[in-house]
Amino acid sequence: MTEVLSAERSQAVDAMLPRSFRVERTRRDTRDTFTLELAPVGGDPLRFAAGQFTMLLAAGVGEVPISISGDPSGGGLLEHTIRNVGSVTRALVATPRGGVLGVRGPFGTGWEVERGEGGDVVLVAGGIGLAPLRPALLQVVRNRERYNRVLLLYGARTPEDILFAPDLERWERDHDVEVAVTVDNGPHDWRGRVGLVTRLVPRAGFDPSRTTAYVCGPEVMMRSTALALRDRGVRADRIRLSMERNMKCGVGLCGHCQLRELFLCVDGPVLGFDRLEPLMSRWEL
Ligand SMILES: Cc1cc2nc3c(=O)[nH]c(=O)nc-3n(C[C@H](O)[C@H](O)[C@H](O)COP(=O)(O)OP(=O)(O)OC[C@H]3O[C@@H](n4cnc5c(N)ncnc54)[C@H](O)[C@@H]3O)c2cc1C
Ligand code: FES
Repeated sequence: MTEVLSAERSQAVDAMLPRSFRVERTRRDTRDTFTLELAPVGGDPLRFAAGQFTMLLAAGVGEVPISISGDPSGGGLLEHTIRNVGSVTRALVATPRGGVLGVRGPFGTGWEVERGEGGDVVLVAGGIGLAPLRPALLQVVRNRERYNRVLLLYGARTPEDILFAPDLERWERDHDVEVAVTVDNGPHDWRGRVGLVTRLVPRAGFDPSRTTAYVCGPEVMMRSTALALRDRGVRADRIRLSMERNMKCGVGLCGHCQLRELFLCVDGPVLGFDRLEPLMSRWEL
């Protein structure tokens, strides 16, 4: 018993210790969003499942949860796509090439993209929500023959805010992904769709009886998207959402991320709509 307890304790201690990663490259994706590519300073690359997050530490400033946005098949640099919204994210995206950040994790549940194999897959992203979904898409296109129709419905605020434009083109052109992009506000020369991403769901070409859906974006958008998917006939437990809450420890100790009986850092962030619906309606109404 003592041995079990001490093994658990040492795992918890390990999970609280950041590993050092060096910034190899920073790519500016949009006016306020940047992708950092990180290499471990010694040790192995981080292995992770699509949908998991890490706690990223900017020394002397703070630590925040950020989803991993790169390829989960392993080997490459560790990618995080970060929107600069406050003090810690500002410090993270401003870290120069060669600068060192702390990384804890990976933490939390993943998208479990394998669940969609043999059927249609629908990914619905709002804004920066495309970043946590990117590993899922990379996994799907790597194993494209295992899926039937693959649809990506993506809503951005304006055309300038569209993330990963080269990926969107490549997925559509080379991997038979049906990509539909819409913006909240388009300038007069924008020839694409305008309107909420939720509105794309009712007419999208998937077979609800064999569809698995993955949704990430602002909470209000996720809830209305999940309801629209369910109205089309997609089963609630086949609609998976990634929840955001304030997080401090990432390992189920501090309670910052608690949502009734759930600790979203360990029970989530990705959960089925069957579990989340009764909890979500409590704050949205
Ligand atoms: C599991 C998880 C995964 C995430 N993945 C990403 C990601 O891939 N890319 C990314 O850019 N961001 C992601 N976030 C959000 C990111 O953690 C917050 O933007 C960050 O904590 C803000 O810290 P800050 O010190 O820069 O800003 P602060 O000064 O703390 O806050 C700036 C603004 O952002 C709001 N904010 C702060 N924390 C959160 C939060 N957790 N959720 C929503 N709003 C918040 C504040 O209310 C405030 O309006 C994720 C959050 C979680 C919980
Ligand atoms: S972040 Fe500490 S319990 Fe979840």
